[in-house]
Amino acid sequence: MDTGRTIPLADKRNFSMLTRVLAGAAALAAAAGLATPAAASTPPSPGAEPQVVGGTRADQGEFPWMVRLSMGCGGALYTDQIVLTAAHCVDRTGADSSITATLGVVDLQSSSAKKVRSTYVYRSPTYDSTGGDWALIKLASPVSGIPTLPIAKNADNNSGTFTIAGWGAAQEGGAQQRYLLKAEVPFVDDSTCQSQGGDYADLKPDAELCAGKLDTGGVDTCQGDSGGPMFRRDGAGEWIQVGIVSWGDGCARAHAPGVYTEVSTFASDIAAAAGKI
Ligand code: ARG
Repeated sequence: MDTGRTIPLADKRNFSMLTRVLAGAAALAAAAGLATPAAASTPPSPGAEPQVVGGTRADQGEFPWMVRLSMGCGGALYTDQIVLTAAHCVDRTGADSSITATLGVVDLQSSSAKKVRSTYVYRSPTYDSTGGDWALIKLASPVSGIPTLPIAKNADNNSGTFTIAGWGAAQEGGAQQRYLLKAEVPFVDDSTCQSQGGDYADLKPDAELCAGKLDTGGVDTCQGDSGGPMFRRDGAGEWIQVGIVSWGDGCARAHAPGVYTEVSTFASDIAAAAGKI
């Protein structure tokens, strides 16, 4: 556990003070949970508490390409040796063996979990200027028997209903989760998202995609889900990644949708970078 990195949110400039405080608490919980597995959150009984926020437990194998990263982020397997995550989950481009990826399980404490170290990180060079909250993590060795999640290469699937999943907090300020949670969120168009005001007014329409239950809240990604995929079925019925968990004002609040990296905008940059690392 690299606690210096467990506060990926600290580098999201758009965060409110309250969110920073809550994020810090969640990050510490993540650190504690991962350092002493027994202290991780108690196994949620499926369907009992609102769980991502407002979700339910994913089945083993349902989203096989989901990855948990040791700094307290999510990710998706992009090739058999590269994980796609968020730029704000990593420090910089360069050699990096500090990250452990856990793959192949919904239960992070499962004895059948595959754990692979990182060797290299590629952080989107445009993240601080024009946006593009994405990064690639190269693993020490390829993983076998785990499908990858294809990324959207055009905007065709950038609307409709999306699936989100992660081991992050099940409520704002809550603990990291032992079991993968999933939920569905509707697309929110850019102008509606921007008109929510506050940080949303600065939304980068080409680089970011909003999703959430605008009027009611209640379903969302949250701290620790960052870097994980937002995905849906494409026209052929196959899962395709359209977003990367990036930020939000708190979690699951009404009129505060989740904001996701618009993957299709960066698809060719991602592919080019993956080919080089
Ligand atoms: N930036 C957060 C993280 O590091 C994810 C926040 C997502 N927030 C939301 N309301 N959708 O885990």
